[in-house]
Amino acid sequence: MIRILIVEDKASMARMLRQVFKAKGYDVTVASDGLEAKTKIQSSDFHLVITDLKMPNGDGMEVLKAAKAKSAGTIVLMMTAFGTIENAVEAMRQGAFDYLLKPFSISEIELKAEKALEQQRLLAENEYLKETIRMQFGRLIGSSPAMQQVYDLIQKVAPSTAPVLILGESGTGKELVAHAIHDTSPRAGRPFIAVNCGVLSEGLIESELFGHEKGAFTGAVVQKKGRFELADGGTLFLDEIGELSPAVQVKLLRVLQEGEYERVGGHQTLRTDVRVIAATHRDLAKAIEAKSFREDLYYRINVLAIKAPPLRERPEDIPVLAAHFLQKASETMHKPVTFAPEMMALLSRYAWPGNVRELENVVERAVVLTDGPVIRAVDLPKEISGLSQEAAQALGDSNLSLDSKMERLEREVIRQTLERVGWNQTQAAKILGVKRSSLQYKMKRYGLER
Ligand SMILES: Nc1ncnc2c1ncn2[C@@H]1O[C@H](COP(=O)(O)OP(=O)(O)OP(=O)(O)O)[C@@H](O)[C@H]1O
Ligand SMILES: [Mg+2]
Repeated sequence: MIRILIVEDKASMARMLRQVFKAKGYDVTVASDGLEAKTKIQSSDFHLVITDLKMPNGDGMEVLKAAKAKSAGTIVLMMTAFGTIENAVEAMRQGAFDYLLKPFSISEIELKAEKALEQQRLLAENEYLKETIRMQFGRLIGSSPAMQQVYDLIQKVAPSTAPVLILGESGTGKELVAHAIHDTSPRAGRPFIAVNCGVLSEGLIESELFGHEKGAFTGAVVQKKGRFELADGGTLFLDEIGELSPAVQVKLLRVLQEGEYERVGGHQTLRTDVRVIAATHRDLAKAIEAKSFREDLYYRINVLAIKAPPLRERPEDIPVLAAHFLQKASETMHKPVTFAPEMMALLSRYAWPGNVRELENVVERAVVLTDGPVIRAVDLPKEISGLSQEAAQALGDSNLSLDSKMERLEREVIRQTLERVGWNQTQAAKILGVKRSSLQYKMKRYGLER
């Protein structure tokens, strides 16, 4: 139930307000001066405090301060007689939501109270949203703290038109971050145009970005619009910006600074309204030192930076990503498969130098390779399964009996343990939980020696 505190020294006025809000179904408390109000604020929580400004025993400003100190989420409405509007403004500066000039009508105070409570509800909802953990954002999946930070940043930079630089190792999802920014921004309904600066030759990239006039160069048989023109009103994603040649960097700098450019072979100066998002896996600071990247361009594109974290720094995201890629792959391949229970542990232990892309590829490959309905360690590359070629083959070979499979695995486990401890038999026996003599027996049997 909504709890309201009314602070008013004039009894008739207090009675009237109590009736108005009681009729709305609110829980109404009344205090007749500042001191009583402060005591009541201390002992219970109110959604809304409506207080008179001038009262005996502590004025409305003190009530406001006490209410805000108890709970910043409490909304305060100040009532004041005409002529003290400066005080009302000061009250708002101190955190009051709004003020009412006396005399006011019932509908006026009802309206302001409703607005205040609506605001209160929105604030509470925002707090709640801030605290809920996001499992995904756009096409980005993951609920780790590192990804929460990325989601927060996307949300923060989205409304602006300032350039964003997305940094991160290969396969960390930089392109998905760029999409998420565009889709969250006011430009969402406008084009998102991507250019991979790494795959186009120097000559081509210029005409790709800025367009060209008919006859600008051999092969330019018609006029062509550049990506800057196509992205007008929307977002231009410059992927692998670290690969741009110095000549193109200069031209890009000019568009970013002046919003102006010319088509290749053209004389007409064109203007464009484009938000630029750039990405690179390179260390641009190093590239600047090596003089392969312009420092002034760096400062232009790096107004807002987002770092896509490598997968090894957020292993808690691996199971949900793996499950997502498994579902995707088994749907496209029409092969309903699941993971064996031990799979998640194996996948989570690996360092994933190729990040999410590598995980996606490994899962796809496993779906292709697996014979049965369950994906097992043998379906993984051996650097991930930790199985030797031999052991993996033994497990995958459907002609072998259970005994021979177990023997080959046993040999593999013993060999790995011995290797780990530098072939110290006493230590290996201890780890494996067998007597040293039986370890020696098995070593002989399996032909294991240093
Ligand atoms: N958090 C994530 N959730 C779901 N899919 C992801 C996530 N991160 C990356 N991916 C997937 O991994 C693959 C690589 O992502 P993306 O192309 O965005 O990486 P990148 O950082 O741009 O890599 P590169 O530097 O190699 O271009 C894509 O198929 C993408 O869909
Ligand atoms: Mg990319």
